[in-house]
Amino acid sequence: MLAQLIYASEASAPMGVGDIEGILKTARRKNRLLDLTGTLLFDRQFFLQVIEGDPQQLSDLYARLVADNRHKRLKIIQFDEISERRFGDWSMGFAAASTSHQQVYLQHGATRLFDPYHLSASAALGILRALGNPGALDTADKLAA
Ligand SMILES: Cc1cc2nc3c(=O)[nH]c(=O)nc-3n(C[C@H](O)[C@H](O)[C@H](O)COP(=O)(O)O)c2cc1C
Repeated sequence: MLAQLIYASEASAPMGVGDIEGILKTARRKNRLLDLTGTLLFDRQFFLQVIEGDPQQLSDLYARLVADNRHKRLKIIQFDEISERRFGDWSMGFAAASTSHQQVYLQHGATRLFDPYHLSASAALGILRALGNPGALDTADKLAA
């Protein structure tokens, strides 16, 4: 069985490129081992992440995420069974804040200033699909945008 978890959270402290790289490095290594896929969006202080895979693995990862003090106020936007992966090729894609994203947020019914806590599951998924990048960390200056 396959499931998909979408959650929002808030960084506990200002995040630098090195912090984000550290998160992605661990995430990509562990997700490959556990056959989890997805993408992570970081914009100013907020994270929005989708993760897909075995439901038990997802639940176990969620427990680790809640215990991770680099972020707080975790809110599950959706945890649902899915028939196929939408991010199957990505151990963990990534997108950082960029002013060009504002248009995408607006298209998906979100506000220009990204606040993932008020997104519907379909809006969150639309934004993650549109912005997620399977490659490495975007350029450093984007983090400061
Ligand atoms: C925003 C954010 C996203 C994360 N995403 C993942 C992820 O996709 N997969 C993962 O294994 N760990 C992820 N982590 C790291 C986990 O919280 C945890 O540190 C990691 O799984 C190692 O856990 P362990 O030391 O208990 O083995 C993320 C952490 C943060 C702050």
